[in-house]
Parts: sequence; structure tokens; C-alpha cells
Amino acid sequence: MMEISLKGQVILVTGGSRGIGAGITRQLLEAGAQVAVHYNSNEAKARKICQGYKAESHLFQADLSDALSTINLFKQVVERFGSLNCLVSNAGVAVSSADDKAEEQWISDWDFTMNVNLRACGILCKMAVEHFQAHGGGRIVNISSRAAFRGDTADYLAYAASKGGVVALTRSIARAYGKQNIKAFNIAPGFVRTDMAQDFMDQYGEDYALNDIALNQLTEPEDLAPTVAFLASGLADHATGCTIDINAGSYVH
Ligand SMILES: NC(=O)c1ccc[n+]([C@@H]2O[C@H](COP(=O)([O-])OP(=O)(O)OC[C@H]3O[C@@H](n4cnc5c(N)ncnc54)[C@H](OP(=O)(O)O)[C@@H]3O)[C@@H](O)[C@H]2O)c1
Repeated sequence: MMEISLKGQVILVTGGSRGIGAGITRQLLEAGAQVAVHYNSNEAKARKICQGYKAESHLFQADLSDALSTINLFKQVVERFGSLNCLVSNAGVAVSSADDKAEEQWISDWDFTMNVNLRACGILCKMAVEHFQAHGGGRIVNISSRAAFRGDTADYLAYAASKGGVVALTRSIARAYGKQNIKAFNIAPGFVRTDMAQDFMDQYGEDYALNDIALNQLTEPEDLAPTVAFLASGLADHATGCTIDINAGSYVH
């Protein structure tokens, strides 16, 4: 029987306060991992998500659009737990930025998106790699997006570009540091029912999302979370460098 136990592992989940990150946090705690739960503005929600589990968790606040705060987040987690076995870089933003927006605003949306979705992920990955090198190895699971592969709408150019960057970053880590026992994986979700998807559906309608997939139901955070536990467990280490599509059959529809 295959059983996934993450007992003894310390895992940092960014954006654990809502949506996909909240689902991942619950799943990891259930599997016995000690979880460093990052949030930005929703401390109460993050606190509630961690309630009722035997496994230890601690909350960490950081605005990931700021590089220094991102660096401090990683340092605080290692200081609190003593070490880290796995980074789950999940926090992200999807800013709708119409191509006829004033140039200055469009550029500011671009920078903000890149800073949160790609630069923060890059900083955390770099710090995780350095930490793993000193501690015999570790794993990284980055949450990219289907948008990295098939593109997005005109309003979400920066979003798609940032997620493409995450894919290339993850593959490079897998390639460069595999011999040092460091594994890195991408998960590329399609629509997942969260606040982020709601913003998109408010703009385009739920039917737009459903017409895009093979299944009858939109993906929920709980449909993604077990895959993260599986990747963190070490049972899939030889899939390092891969991207796992979890998009309700978007590519075969
Ligand atoms: N939902 C989808 O359809 C979908 C599809 C493909 C990929 N994804 C990706 O999956 C990941 C999670 O998305 P989601 O749908 O769960 O999003 P969500 O419901 O909007 O939640 C976003 C999370 O990111 C955190 N966050 C947002 N801005 C931040 C900032 N400036 N600094 C630090 N943290 C910040 C939020 O923290 P607070 O709540 O504490 O502020 C929250 O925990 C993202 O990387 C997203 O791109 C989502």
C-alpha cells in the first residue's frame, strides 16, 4: 500500500491564506508536515486554515512584491523551524491590464505582476537552493499556469509571461542542481475556483471557463493539493523538471 506521510518535513507554502495555497496547506498538514504558512493581507484566514491539525504550523506575513520582505520571509521561516525540506511557491496575482491602458499604468501592472509572480518565486527558489545545498537536498514545487503554455487573453499578457518564466526557472533548477539532490517541479493549473478565477469569470462569465475544459466542473483547490503532497513526498523524484498539467482536460477538449 502506498501511503503519503510528510512527517518530519518542514514545508513553506506561500499564499497559504486563500484559494489553492489554502488547499495545499490543509493537505500538507493532514499528511503530517510542519508547515510555514505565508500570507500577505489575510492573517485571520490563514490562522483559520491551520486550526484543528495535529501537525505544527506557524504563520508568516510578507508582501512578495517587495524583494527585501521576500528575503526576510525565507530567513524567518528557517530561523523558526531550524530547517526547510520543501518550498511550495504558490502566491500570485492576476492583474487585468487592458492593452489600451495608459502606458505608465500598463508598465506598473507589468512590474507588479512580475515582482510577485516571478521575482519573488526566483528569490525564494535561490534561497531554498542555497539552504538545500547545505542540508543534503530538498524539493521545490512551483505553481505556474496553463497560461504559460497556451497563452492568455490580451488583458493578461504579463500574467502569462510571468508564468512562462516560472516554468523556465523551475526546469533550470532541476537541471542545474539535480546532482546535489535538489528536485524541482511545476504544476500548471487551468481554471481553479478561487478569488483569482472569480475576477476572471466576473469579466468573461463562468460559461467561458466551462467551455474551455473537458470536464463538467471547474477544478477546486482540493483537486490540486494531493499532487503537491505526492511531489513533496519524494515518491516522484525522477519526474524532476516536469510540469504537471491539472486543467480538467483543457488540452484535449
Ligand atoms: N485560480 C486559477 O484559476 C489559477 C490558474 C492557474 C494558476 N493559478 C496560480 O495559482 C496560484 C494561487 O492562485 P489562487 O487562485 O489561489 O489565488 P488567490 O485566491 O487570489 O490567492 C492568492 C494568494 O496569494 C497571496 N498574495 C497575493 N498577492 C500577494 C503579494 N503581493 N504578496 C504576498 N502574497 C500575495 C494572497 O495572500 P493574502 O490573501 O494573504 O493577501 C493569497 O494567499 C497563483 O500563483 C496563480 O497564478 C491560479
